[in-house]
Parts: sequence; structure tokens; C-alpha cells
Amino acid sequence: MSTPLLIADNINREFGGLQALSRVSLTVEAGEIKAVIGPNGAGKSTLFNILTGVTPASSGQIIFDGQHIERLPAHQRVERGMARTFQNLQIFPHMTVLENVMVGRHSRTNSGFLSAFLNTGAVRSERAHDQRIAMQLLELLGLEDRAGDLAGDLSYGEAKIMEIARAMASQPRLLLLDEPMAGLPADAVGTVSQAILNLNAQGVAVLLVEHNVRVVMNLSHNVLVLNNGCAISHGTPEQVRHDQAVIDAYLGEGAHAA
Ligand SMILES: Nc1ncnc2c1ncn2[C@@H]1O[C@H](COP(=O)(O)OP(=O)(O)OP(=O)(O)O)[C@@H](O)[C@H]1O
Ligand SMILES: [Mg+2]
Repeated sequence: MSTPLLIADNINREFGGLQALSRVSLTVEAGEIKAVIGPNGAGKSTLFNILTGVTPASSGQIIFDGQHIERLPAHQRVERGMARTFQNLQIFPHMTVLENVMVGRHSRTNSGFLSAFLNTGAVRSERAHDQRIAMQLLELLGLEDRAGDLAGDLSYGEAKIMEIARAMASQPRLLLLDEPMAGLPADAVGTVSQAILNLNAQGVAVLLVEHNVRVVMNLSHNVLVLNNGCAISHGTPEQVRHDQAVIDAYLGEGAHAA
């Protein structure tokens, strides 16, 4: 078996006296969709923030594509091939949908400030290239008809998909999605799910923090369950669903599998 794309080993994180994560380990294989689930306060967002460089771990190692990244700032992790969306929408409402997606090309753009200012031929051809990639992503995610519209005019579900397209514009091998279905109407959940599957079919690995259990069961190859900062279960959605430790964590002691 090949080396995992992402290895997080023995991650600990304390906040004051609170142990938000205790010796959590996780791998993501190339091309895998993995979900991280768990009750409120389990440590999912903290783990996510540590993996993407938003906040440091107290201890532990993170290896991405064979190299240690735990000391790298967030933008350098993007350059190495990790991209994420945030739970709250972060769009530029007065720019077009296409322009919003092109913002995500930033880490892949070579021209410096001076050549951009002078609008050299190299800059123009780079911009045309970025535009093509952004448009291809909108097509892949089914949002191409809105490319020329202002982002502020999108529905909430469309804006979520646009954010996924923007994260994808850096051409990551691992896409981290922070509750992509939160606040979406039911029909949009299906659309965003299909968008994630389309990206995965192109070989992109996905790490998903998500509360919508049906989405987790339908999309993920494997699931990691956190509770009170500890990994309590790991396996296929079917395995995890029948794990008594998981049932107890969600429903409280005394609940038993049917
Ligand atoms: N910056 C912080 N300072 C202090 N405590 C924090 C901080 N961030 C998170 N915590 C605490 O760490 C624990 C884990 O929080 P985290 O946000 O990772 O949980 P979660 O699994 O994402 O929960 P939810 O499903 O509600 O989003 C919680 O007890 C939380 O209060
Ligand atoms: Mg959270």
C-alpha cells in the first residue's frame, strides 16, 4: 500500500486547562474521502485548524506528501497542495463569480507586483490561463451559468459551491471542507454532494467535517469519530455506525444498537 497523502500523528492541543485534542492520529490516502464526525465540542474544528495551519498543535506531527508541515504557515500549506473552505461564507459580493474563483489562483500565480502593475504580456497570458482554470472548475461544479454574475446575487447554496471552486483553484490534492452542508436547503445538499463527488473523481482527496450524518454516510470512504478530544472509532461508515462506543457518544450511555 502506498504512503498516505496526509499523516497526523499523536496530535495534542490544550486550551488553558482544557484538553481539546488528546493523542489524535489520522491518515488520508490519496483520492480518499474521509469524514471527521463527533458531538459538539469533540475537537473537530480544532483538528481541522491544526491541519491547515490556522492554529498550532501543543504537540504532534503532521506529514503531508512525505514532508513535515507542522511548522509551516497556512499559505505555505496551500502551496504544498492543501486547500480549505471556511464554515462562514467568505465571498467578495461585488466581484463576479468567475473573479471570486480566480482569487483562489493566488498561490499558483508567478508574476510579481511590478509586472502586474505594468500589465506585461506575461501577466495577461497568466490571467487568461487562470480564467480558463476557474471556468473549468465552475463547469465541473455546475455553476458555469453564473460565471458572469455578481457573487452577491448567488443563493446560499451556490455561494457555498463557489467557495469550493475557489479552494480548488489552487489545484490542491487535499481539499478540507468545514461543514460544507451547514445551513443549506435540502436540494442544495444534493448539489454540493455531487460537486464533492465530481472533484473526488478527478483524484482530489477530501477531508470533511460534517454534522449531516446522511451526507457523511453517502460520501465518505472512511470515518473518524472524535469525542471529548479523543478518537473513539475509525472505519467505514457501516462499521462506525454499528460501533457501540459511537452510539453511546451520540445518544449517551444506555443507548444500544438495534
Ligand atoms: N480558541 C479556543 N480557546 C479555548 N477553548 C477552545 C478554543 N477553541 C476550541 N476550544 C474548546 O475546545 C473544545 C473543542 O472545540 P471544537 O470547536 O474543536 O469542537 P467541535 O468538535 O468543532 O464542535 P462543534 O461540532 O460544536 O463545532 C471545546 O470544548 C471548545 O470550547
Ligand atoms: Mg466545530
